[in-house]
Amino acid sequence: MAQVDLVIAERLASGVPLVGQVAQYIISAGGKRLRPVLLLLTCGALGYNVAQRFTLAAVVEFIHTATLLHDDVVDESTLRRGRPTANENFGNPASVLVGDFLYSRAFQMMVDANSMRVMQTLADATNVIAEGEVLQLMNMHDASLDEEGYLRVIRSKTAKLFEASARLGAILAGSTEVVEQACAEFGQALGTAFQVIDDVLDYDGNANEMGKNLGDDLREGKATLPLILAMQRGSAAQRQTVREAIETGSVERLQEIVTIVRDTGALTATRQAASAEAQRAIHAAQRLPNNVYSQAMVTLAAQLLERRT
Ligand code: IPE
Ligand code: IPE
Ligand code: MG
Ligand code: MG
Repeated sequence: MAQVDLVIAERLASGVPLVGQVAQYIISAGGKRLRPVLLLLTCGALGYNVAQRFTLAAVVEFIHTATLLHDDVVDESTLRRGRPTANENFGNPASVLVGDFLYSRAFQMMVDANSMRVMQTLADATNVIAEGEVLQLMNMHDASLDEEGYLRVIRSKTAKLFEASARLGAILAGSTEVVEQACAEFGQALGTAFQVIDDVLDYDGNANEMGKNLGDDLREGKATLPLILAMQRGSAAQRQTVREAIETGSVERLQEIVTIVRDTGALTATRQAASAEAQRAIHAAQRLPNNVYSQAMVTLAAQLLERRT
């Protein structure tokens, strides 16, 4: 990961000062670097140890960072990684444009890998993420969104990049189709579980630990799994409260909504849904050669459910 950070620092360079400033601002704030971790773990599990892997790990982090810059504009979020968001600090135009810089820098870097499969995987993932964010935009304030509709959004906006990161490990290692599929499934399941937990933490987390504000989803009228399940399980009155909150996107009743998602068991049920996806990830990792890296993949999936940041 230290090598990945070196590549990141090297490739952030731009002759335009504001580009470096905004990009540095969000990247130096840290982040869990989960997608590069996933790529390096799959490379490790499959015995690929060429330095190229560090470049591609930086590529997936750049793509991720670009989505965050754009996402915080779209979501009107003010806190990320424990700091004011880039849009809060530099404004929406700078955030959008530097997001574009990071996307296009990622594409310059992936061309260096000189592999059509690598480029195809990353181009597809980037395109699907954009679709996922647009799909979510269309679903805003729609209280009739069901679990299937919700899953479609999160598989696109979040799980796809996890899937691509894990798949790249297999592609780089020249693995068989079966092994590549196991890696892709691991990434997809892990990414889905990751976003489901993220949506729990928007009601049940701690802003200091997460480095982002609670209640952002509700303010936008996002029907995430905790709310969908609360409407299925709640009394008519509880259902009506949640429905109105989604339709109006008002956070005034956030505390009341938090109580409802707790009391109806919706939070517990949402955590169980994440757990089922994590199990699916673990089974996929168990189809890889058994070594310290694939074992770390299992541990990662198992610990994800406990995450608070
Ligand atoms: C945030 O991703 C966006 C989601 C998919 C929920 P991370 O939680 O991986 O963000 P950082 O990189 O660690 O800040
Ligand atoms: C993040 O979704 C998905 C992408 C970055 C594409 P969210 O909007 O739920 O993530 P946070 O909560 O802002 O990190
Ligand atoms: Mg957001
Ligand atoms: Mg968002």
